[in-house]
Amino acid sequence: MESPLFDLTGKTALVTGAGRGIGLAIARGLAGQGADVALIARTKGQLEAAKRQIEAESGRRAWIFPFDLGDVGHVQRLFGEIVGATGGVDILVNCAGTTVREPTEDASLESFNRVMDVNLTEVLLLCQAFCKHRKQVGKPGRIINIGSLACHAARPTIAAYACSKMGVLGLTKMLAVEWAKYGINVNAIGPGYIATDLTAPLQADADFSRWVLSKTPLNRWGRPEDLVGTAVLFASRAGDFITGQIFYVDGGWTALI
Ligand SMILES: NC(=O)c1ccc[n+]([C@@H]2O[C@H](COP(=O)([O-])OP(=O)(O)OC[C@H]3O[C@@H](n4cnc5c(N)ncnc54)[C@H](OP(=O)(O)O)[C@@H]3O)[C@@H](O)[C@H]2O)c1
Repeated sequence: MESPLFDLTGKTALVTGAGRGIGLAIARGLAGQGADVALIARTKGQLEAAKRQIEAESGRRAWIFPFDLGDVGHVQRLFGEIVGATGGVDILVNCAGTTVREPTEDASLESFNRVMDVNLTEVLLLCQAFCKHRKQVGKPGRIINIGSLACHAARPTIAAYACSKMGVLGLTKMLAVEWAKYGINVNAIGPGYIATDLTAPLQADADFSRWVLSKTPLNRWGRPEDLVGTAVLFASRAGDFITGQIFYVDGGWTALI
């Protein structure tokens, strides 16, 4: 994509959940278009490897911030530290996520709250900190939230996940209409089933995997790299007039009856 429409030179992107999987692919993709990147996840070793890989392949700068985003009381302080270290954040990608699979009738409040904290509450807090920062510097910004097919429909055993991701979609639309006046575009990406650590137990289940393929017209599991094009679109000049949208990158799943 060698086009000024997609060029991110001079921008800095903060990507959560960037130690592996979809977040790492998006961070690499944004750096490939010229952005410097700040990376958050808990596992320091994975962040260090991600930083090395991104700096080697793109020549851009990468900073790492090992942090548990479930620690919602300290998320906004962390954002301040990131702005101090990087000099400013133009693009926020909220990708960190977790799930618990259990029958809802037995779900504990503790596991429900944990998923909501990591998938939704910290997203709100980071968005708020980002908005204040962009207002302070008087510049526009882009927020990209990673949703899910669970923004669209439910399946059994993932109540907390579905509530959090439907919340992410609601928040995306809310902030898009509320923060347009600050020049902040807010969009979401809804991945289909993507082969990552998060879905490792599902990939290993032959019946489940067959079901995924039967529901996916393009007839394969997605790869983290499949999400990069949409993230670059939302982050770049090409996305100037796009806000409040969710784009499903799902191999056709949501188009199938
Ligand atoms: N894979 C799919 O099929 C799929 C489909 C739809 C939506 N998604 C969404 O895509 C996003 C990424 O998923 P993925 O499949 O790439 O998962 P993954 O491979 O498990 O990666 C998740 C990333 O988030 C980080 N993370 C998890 N909990 C965290 C916490 N409490 N604090 C900070 N970082 C945390 C992980 O690092 P640490 O463990 O080191 O913290 C890791 O870097 C999630 O929001 C997920 O809901 C995935």
